[in-house]
Amino acid sequence: MPSLLVIHGPNLNLLGAREPSIYGTTTLDDINAELSVRASAVGFAIESVQSNLEGVIINHIQQAAISHDALLINPAGYSHTSVAIRDALDAIGIPAVEVHLSNIAARESFRHVSLTGAVCIGTVSGFGARSYYLALDAAVAHVKGLQSK
Ligand code: DQA
Repeated sequence: MPSLLVIHGPNLNLLGAREPSIYGTTTLDDINAELSVRASAVGFAIESVQSNLEGVIINHIQQAAISHDALLINPAGYSHTSVAIRDALDAIGIPAVEVHLSNIAARESFRHVSLTGAVCIGTVSGFGARSYYLALDAAVAHVKGLQSK
């Protein structure tokens, strides 16, 4: 069975309570549960992890290359700062889809550049929790070889 790893970056453990006007009221557990239902409906295994630590996220990315077929990643604040996470994504041989709940293009200018998004196959941003479900669809299609260039 093909398998996906979902990596949630810093502060996303606070979803539901954190700035709900920007990030909504859906919790991370809600998102992970919905991703599991949707993944199993299309015959994919899925595992979700969250870390506030850059090095731990890098370890998860490297591990994903061994044990999974694709990644969904919301690097959160690290999207805009982390050359090391970008390098890890660039180094692995599996596709990654970047996810943002908020529309980073419509926010402060320091959020407009994603160092990590540039080495992903695509980015879904601005649809709240639904960004994750759209990213799941994209990753599944890519793994199945359905994504057109
Ligand atoms: C975020 C957007 C980032 O700019 C921010 O630092 C986050 C969350 C999002 O999902 O909208 O922590 O990645």
